[in-house]
Formats: sequence, C-alpha cells, structure tokens
Amino acid sequence: MGKENLLEVRHLKKYFSTAAGQLHAVDDVSFDIAKGETLGVVGESGCGKSTLGRAVLRLHEPTSGEVLFDGKNILSYGKSEMKALKRDMQLIFQDPFSSLNPRMTVSQSIALPLTIQGVYKKKDNEALNKKVREMMDLVGLAQRFVNSYPHELDGGRRQRIGIARALALNPRFIVCDEPVSALDVSIQAQILNLMQDLQRDMGLTYMFITHDLSVVKHLADKIMVMYLGMVVEYCDVKQLFAKPLHPYTKALLSAIPVPDPDVEMDRIILKGEISSPIDPKPGCRFAGRCIYATDACRGKDIPLTEEEPGHFTACIRSKEIN
Ligand SMILES: Nc1ncnc2c1ncn2[C@@H]1O[C@H](COP(=O)(O)OP(=O)(O)OP(=O)(O)O)[C@@H](O)[C@H]1O
Ligand code: SF4
Ligand SMILES: [Mg+2]
Repeated sequence: MGKENLLEVRHLKKYFSTAAGQLHAVDDVSFDIAKGETLGVVGESGCGKSTLGRAVLRLHEPTSGEVLFDGKNILSYGKSEMKALKRDMQLIFQDPFSSLNPRMTVSQSIALPLTIQGVYKKKDNEALNKKVREMMDLVGLAQRFVNSYPHELDGGRRQRIGIARALALNPRFIVCDEPVSALDVSIQAQILNLMQDLQRDMGLTYMFITHDLSVVKHLADKIMVMYLGMVVEYCDVKQLFAKPLHPYTKALLSAIPVPDPDVEMDRIILKGEISSPIDPKPGCRFAGRCIYATDACRGKDIPLTEEEPGHFTACIRSKEIN
C-alpha cells in the first residue's frame, strides 16, 4: 500500500492580472506529497515555483483549483481556520535577511510566531525564553547569539533563525523556497543536512523549491519540473535522474556540473524563443526552444501523461524521442 498523502493539489491555477493581460504564473498544476516525504519543484527563473508554493499556503489566493491538506480543501477555509492551519503549514524563504525584521533580535524573531498564535503570552517571559533557547539548540544556533541582530550574523546562521522560526509552532508541512540558494556552497551542505535531520526527527513533509536540480537529488523523493507555469515532468527522483523523458528536463540535467573532469557531458544549450506567460496560446509552451517541435506540438495543450509506471511527462513525441 502506498503512503498516505498529506497534501493533494488539484488543477491549481494562479493568474495575475497585468496591464498586458492575464499572466498564467501557475496553470493547472496537480500533485501529491506523501506524509514525511519531500517533493522537489524545479525549473528556471519565472516558471512559477514561488507562486505555486505561496498559492498552496494561500499567501497568494489561487485563481481556481483545490488544495487538500489532510483530505480537506483549505481553499474553502475562513479566516480563523486559516490562522489555525498556519501552525501546520509554514514557509522557509530564500533570503532570511529580507524576511527577518532587522530591528528584532534572534530571540524576538523566533518568539514572534509563538506569541502571534497565542501559544505563549508575552508576559510568560521565562517559558518563552526557554522555548526560544530550545529552538536555537534544535537548529544548531549557539546560545551566545540570542540577543544578536540579523546583520550581525552570517547567511548560514540567519537561515538557521528562519528555520527555527518556521519550526517553532511544530508544523507538519513546510514550503522551502530556495532555502540555500543565497548561501556559500560549504554552508549549503550544512543547512541541507540540518533540514534532513529535522525532517527525520519531526516527521516533516517538505515542498522544496529550487532552480538547481543537484540540490534536490539527495533530498527529494519525487520531483516536479515546471516550465512557464505548467508541469512538464513528474516522477520519483531516481526515475528522473536515470531516465528523464521531457526535452526540457534533459536540458536542465545536462547543465549540472560533473565533478569528474574526465567525464564529458553533452551540455544541451537551449536556443530559440521563450514564449510569454501572458495569455499564452494553446500548445506546448516549450515548443519555441524544443529541437523536436513539430506543428502537432502547437494548437492544443499537451496533457501530462503517464508514459511509464509513476513517470508522467507532457510531450506528445515522448515515445519517439526516448
Ligand atoms: N505579484 C505578482 N504580480 C504579477 N506577476 C507576478 C507576481 N508574482 C510573480 N509574478 C510573475 O509570475 C511568474 C512566476 O513567478 P515566480 O516568482 O513564481 O517564479 P519562480 O519560478 O519562483 O522564479 P525565481 O526562480 O526567479 O524565484 C513570473 O512571470 C513573474 O513575473
Ligand atoms: S510536445 Fe513537442 S515541443 Fe513540446 S517538448 Fe514535446 S516535442 Fe518538444
Ligand atoms: Mg521564486
């Protein structure tokens, strides 16, 4: 029997109204995340990863679709139900520096969600301080930084505050939006290890957004590749690295640097025109850059199809080219 899903997203759309027309940032996206697992969401800048993460948390109100958390569609929730749900669903940002209040100390930042949610009263000073110190221990932030301000800390330590703040309410689901992209490579590994340890110890479920496939290779259970608001490939992480099916995924994988200089990789350089996400025409959105494109790829949308067991891709020529 498969694992139970914590999150089920169905036909989710998020369109932004712009002066030029409707910008289809997220266009009919469906996926599941099983309890305790990680879904990696990848794709280049502007493909809709952050908008998707925010729409799932209702930080951006979706245009249409369903977001089922524990089987219940949270898009029908009122204000008080959403406030309660915030304890379960949290966000870790790319750059905690911009999301942390520069005038708040480490202790005040970590305490904030706890007092907003009413878990502790501000006057419960002793209990709140104890909890803050526990959270600092949990994320490996030395106690000597308890009264430091964000600008006094390096990127890795700031991201540890971001993680502590997200975990303070003991959530079950976290959208991690490029949590290590702003960090030095040596610190990236430390933060990724910490996130994996926390996932194991706390039974967390992650939606891990990144433009860099190599970051999620060892972290994700499943991967969803997005292109201009749509999903072009969705499968187990092992399937994706062993046999990518979509031409866009192949190009993304070919761009990952290989550590061994003797191994020659054929890097696929994408040429051609990136189509506009504003009022897009029906058809494959990748057609302008795809070397396999034919007239049949244009004119009507290409559905995500299960080409191999559990391996979905949106390419009508998949059988011919793979
Ligand atoms: N508030 C907004 N109003 C209008 N358009 C928006 C808004 N937020 C995002 N967009 C547009 O939606 C599309 C998706 O943006 P999004 O930030 O989700 O992409 P992303 O994949 O997270 O990119 P990056 O890797 O650069 O973070 C882009 O075309 C972007 O310009
Ligand atoms: S549907 Fe056509 S244009 Fe799109 S990826 Fe497949 S071959 Fe390329
Ligand atoms: Mg983003």
